[in-house]
Amino acid sequence: MAYSEKVMDHFANPRNVGEIPDADGVGEVGNPKCGDIMRMYIKVDGDVITDVKFKTFGCGAAIATSSMATELIKGKKIEDALKLTNKAVMEALDGLPPVKVHCSVLAEQAIKSAVADYYKKKGIDPAPIVGDIPECESCACEL
Ligand code: FES
Repeated sequence: MAYSEKVMDHFANPRNVGEIPDADGVGEVGNPKCGDIMRMYIKVDGDVITDVKFKTFGCGAAIATSSMATELIKGKKIEDALKLTNKAVMEALDGLPPVKVHCSVLAEQAIKSAVADYYKKKGIDPAPIVGDIPECESCACEL
């Protein structure tokens, strides 16, 4: 399966790349198998994610999924951002090849860990709000 046009577009022109120096929450996740790392920065006002930026040191699918994930959560309430699954990110990109599904899991994990960091910084236990950060179990990770 080839990459969709949307994946190619978000890989070639990723949205929201960069850092937020005074971020309210930062999440960093990595895939131990491929060594790729994704860092997500969020700015929060009230219960709304007003800004989000990412840096991904990884494959094209990881860059495309982080880019799409930032677009999907920007301006959204935290509770809605937490509902974003890797499947929804993949659907928004018109799909990914099966061996690249784990790259989209990284995007879901990065958002959740940035939100968890936001709550920790406020002195709130994130576990009951953010829940479990999913492990990649949907792919064979044959890298
Ligand atoms: Fe490592 Fe895609 S995230 S190969």
